[in-house]
Amino acid sequence: MESTTNRHDAAVSLVRIEQLHYRYPPFDPNDPNPDQRWALEDLSLEVEAGEFLGVLGTTGSGKSTLCLALNGLAPQQTSGTIRGDVWIGELNTKRTPVIDVARRVGLVFQEPESNFLGLTVEDEVAFGLENLAVEIGEIEERVDWALKLTGAETLRSRSVARLSGGQKQRVAIAATVAMLPAVLVLDDPTAELDPAGTAEVLEVVQAVRTRRPETAVIMTSGDPAPIVAGADRMLVLDGGRRVFLGTPSEYIDAAPELLERGVAAPPFIELASRLNQAADTQFRFDDPDDAAQQMRRFFSI
Ligand SMILES: Nc1ncnc2c1ncn2[C@@H]1O[C@H](COP(=O)(O)OP(=O)(O)O)[C@@H](O)[C@H]1O
Ligand SMILES: [Mg+2]
Repeated sequence: MESTTNRHDAAVSLVRIEQLHYRYPPFDPNDPNPDQRWALEDLSLEVEAGEFLGVLGTTGSGKSTLCLALNGLAPQQTSGTIRGDVWIGELNTKRTPVIDVARRVGLVFQEPESNFLGLTVEDEVAFGLENLAVEIGEIEERVDWALKLTGAETLRSRSVARLSGGQKQRVAIAATVAMLPAVLVLDDPTAELDPAGTAEVLEVVQAVRTRRPETAVIMTSGDPAPIVAGADRMLVLDGGRRVFLGTPSEYIDAAPELLERGVAAPPFIELASRLNQAADTQFRFDDPDDAAQQMRRFFSI
């Protein structure tokens, strides 16, 4: 089930997650029987510079927690219990001040609003740089560069509050990329967007990869569609555990088996799996459009 190709033998990878366990603090500190489950459990994997890792999992599988652990907010801001380590280069994210981790790891949140203070687009992009104490002259240059790279130049003087969801995520990515992160982490950035907004985000992620090819991109999603198409590898989380790691194509092959083990799969994969069981067919759909096309052909409609 796991990918057999190990591309991490020779060099040390940029991101190294080693037997990571993380549990949130109890909701009620006086609760005699607090929830002892790990939000992330025994997670190990590495991500290289330039790689795009898609992280798939249903609600509650640990995607957001993983993003917080990557930039040290878990456990430094969330408190709770951590075992194991997350390394970004030589920085250990549980010991390095969050502001220093933030220079390496940029995080874009799921709700576009959580990324902003309610300023104009250019001020939002400049804000993070001011926090990192970048020089004024360089801030201007980087804001121009990031807005151009993400195709947000025309939004420059607009108030973020008035932007569409897709535009907001575009600006959030601009603000993050302006900090020149080695790792760009996007936590389910398309969850609240319509198809046009989703396409916008994927286009911007592609632009970042083209213009800064050394950036590692880690993008989570509850829906495989936005990541299956572009990711180099996919990690599937279930109950905070790694249940699959491999290429998108290997994922599509593995999904029916994951489904049998109770790991939720996207509808198009479930459809193929059920058809194959019930009708003894051999369907394998790459995505919902492919499913629709093959079904049309099958029924000659
Ligand atoms: N702030 C929190 N306090 C306590 N438990 C949390 C908190 N945030 C998330 N959890 C729990 O951690 C687990 C993983 O959640 P999360 O990382 O948000 O998953 P996802 O992003 O995949 O939906 C879930 O069981 C969730 O209920
Ligand atoms: Mg989440």
